[in-house]
Amino acid sequence: MNVDLATALLEKYGSPLYVYDGDRLRDTIRHITQSVPYPHTQFRFASVTNGNVALLQIFRSIGWGLHANTPGDIYLGLQAGFSPDQIVYSGSNLDRSEMEQVLNWGITTLNLDSLAQLELLCDVYQTVGRTAPQPPILGEPDNLHLGFRLNLPELTGDSRIGVRPEEFPAAVTIAAAAGLKITGLHFYRGTGTNATQAFTQVIDKVLETASLLPDWQYLDFGGGFGYPYKHGGVAFDWEWFGRELTDRFEKQTKKINLVIEPGRAAIAGCATLLAKVISVKWQDEIQVVGVDTTVANLSVPSVHGGYREIEVLTTQDSITHPTNVCGNTTYSRDYLGKNCQLPALKIGDIIAILDVGAYGYAMSSHFLHRPRPPEVLLENGTDRLIRHREDYSVLLNHQIFAPSI
Ligand SMILES: Cc1ncc(COP(=O)(O)O)c(C=O)c1O
Repeated sequence: MNVDLATALLEKYGSPLYVYDGDRLRDTIRHITQSVPYPHTQFRFASVTNGNVALLQIFRSIGWGLHANTPGDIYLGLQAGFSPDQIVYSGSNLDRSEMEQVLNWGITTLNLDSLAQLELLCDVYQTVGRTAPQPPILGEPDNLHLGFRLNLPELTGDSRIGVRPEEFPAAVTIAAAAGLKITGLHFYRGTGTNATQAFTQVIDKVLETASLLPDWQYLDFGGGFGYPYKHGGVAFDWEWFGRELTDRFEKQTKKINLVIEPGRAAIAGCATLLAKVISVKWQDEIQVVGVDTTVANLSVPSVHGGYREIEVLTTQDSITHPTNVCGNTTYSRDYLGKNCQLPALKIGDIIAILDVGAYGYAMSSHFLHRPRPPEVLLENGTDRLIRHREDYSVLLNHQIFAPSI
């Protein structure tokens, strides 16, 4: 982002500020979509990475559906205008009331995590089928696309999620008792992988495993596709992946529907967190820069071991120094960047923390009791506020004062 735009945005909306580039987001969505020529493909954006409704609406306008990890994802997706059949639920550990809620919302594709969840679904399906006011799926078992998240250590690694192939026959029996079929398999390769071959090498085994299900109709190839946070580093190769997938799916003897749920790969790169420098000090050769944001606004880098490029917008000095960019709290992990190479900074300089579209705002919190920044969307040369800045009153939300102290 250029300095004039950043300065204007900070003047208008204050600092710190999440800024999304809608045009770039659309380009990325189109690029991913066009990389998979297999005709029976549906993309479902994994909104665990970002639940801003204005952004979800961009995905919807380009023809993607939504992948929901939780009922909250479904709720936001419905608010953003997705129809229930555009939402795939692939989550874990719903209790009975949540399972009822998911079916009452009319969700038609569910990838479950365990036989216990299948038993619950079957039970709830039969109850909700009798009572739901608007049961779009119910009474029509063929409209319900029921699958499993796969657990196969050679493919999915050491994961708590999913069902093993040896459990498939029992699953088929449980579903059949409720008049249902297991028609899908969901495969999740692992989070944030830029090594494309880690996906292409396992396609055959995933297909072979899915074909163990007698009524198999769809494969959900999950998420986990990486984003090159280290600029110039290895990037996930969507064209290669798409060609390999298409090749294998076209060789199947029956038509198999393909679902793909990118999260960070779609949205990480379109966002920047702008912040201002508040103080600068030197500890030997290290420049210690304090900024007006915190890891509670962007928890990924220091709390979860991630990395984000940081640019200084207000100085072009090519001489750089080892720099720690620190948040505006004393929390020991409040670093937005450690050991960065940045020019000598001064109070008021503007920094841009790049690629914060995924797991950025979505993982921000009120830890450290700093209200969260606003979010702004840039599109067609205009800017639009898509979430208000919080004030201190949010810190009291749902708190109850003792009556007489
Ligand atoms: C089932 C499923 N699909 C997709 C995603 C998105 O993952 P990523 O952002 O790594 O693509 C997740 C993340 O938790 C997930 O659980």
